[in-house]
Amino acid sequence: MDLDGIRAEALAAIEAAGDDEALQALRVKYLGRKSDLSAALRELGNLDAKARAEAGARANRVKKAIEEALEARGAALLSQRAGALATREWLDLSLPAEAPRKGHLHPITLVEADLEHLFRGMGYRVVEGPWVEDEFHNFDALNIPASHPSRDDWDTFWLSDGNLLRTHTSPVQIRAMRRFGAPLRAIFPGRVFRNEAVDATHEACFTQIEGLVIDRDIVPGHLFHSIRAILSAILGEEVEARFRPSFFPFTEPSFECDIRRGGRWMELCGMGMVHPKVLEAGGIDPLEWTGFAFGMGIDRLTLMRYGIDDIRWFHGADLRFLEQFGCA
Ligand code: PHE
Repeated sequence: MDLDGIRAEALAAIEAAGDDEALQALRVKYLGRKSDLSAALRELGNLDAKARAEAGARANRVKKAIEEALEARGAALLSQRAGALATREWLDLSLPAEAPRKGHLHPITLVEADLEHLFRGMGYRVVEGPWVEDEFHNFDALNIPASHPSRDDWDTFWLSDGNLLRTHTSPVQIRAMRRFGAPLRAIFPGRVFRNEAVDATHEACFTQIEGLVIDRDIVPGHLFHSIRAILSAILGEEVEARFRPSFFPFTEPSFECDIRRGGRWMELCGMGMVHPKVLEAGGIDPLEWTGFAFGMGIDRLTLMRYGIDDIRWFHGADLRFLEQFGCA
């Protein structure tokens, strides 16, 4: 039997096999019991010892070559199938996913955060007080007794239990003085509520930031300088600000600060030197300490900073307004 012929024919057939089934059939045909190779091996018995050894070795080499060819073709078919699968079921993992919708801060919150940052840089601590206040903190301790007509300056939402929605952030002055004592440097940002008619510059719920500094030898100059510095930093330019005399029961003397925008003066901030009675109510000795306080409308500051014409945009339902404040 021609071993080289068997080998050549088998390798060619294996190379041409198209699938595993064909390969299996070729394995039977060329290596099975009825194969020419098996017949050739059986015939070895008829040869003499030397020729048998030689022919046996050759036959085994042919067998090994066929086995290896079967193995290699099997592997090639497998990788061909895997390649086809990968092409068919291709998945592009590098395609960017659709970004989740991100929210952003409200313009008033942005300004409030900037204010907090600026004041912290000047050594102020940030303290918050409750929205639902009692009459004592909102009025009495601030030198506004029950009978006093100036209570009418703060149109109050009274609650049925005798408490109220704080009309300003000033009650936090008392809470902070009692908690921290003197010297003290603090701001109190937060919402306040007034039962008043809503128009382009007034809302029933708005945001204030109160400031309180208590130390030895504090004078109005400290107050004016601090306010100017803060306003310039927030509005990003030298602001045109005026201070005029005013009245608040809890400061003496009292001032009002207006700033000019587009030819109009806008009331922005009430302030003054902390009244001795208020220091006393806060447990601080007015003979030893003096201080200043101010209360600024963050909403109005935000109007000016962004050139917004109506305070009602802030809490209106038109999201297109708010969406302008998202960062890119
Ligand atoms: N609480 C005052 C108001 O809401 C503002 C103010 C605060 C005035 C502190 C003086 C000192 O109108």
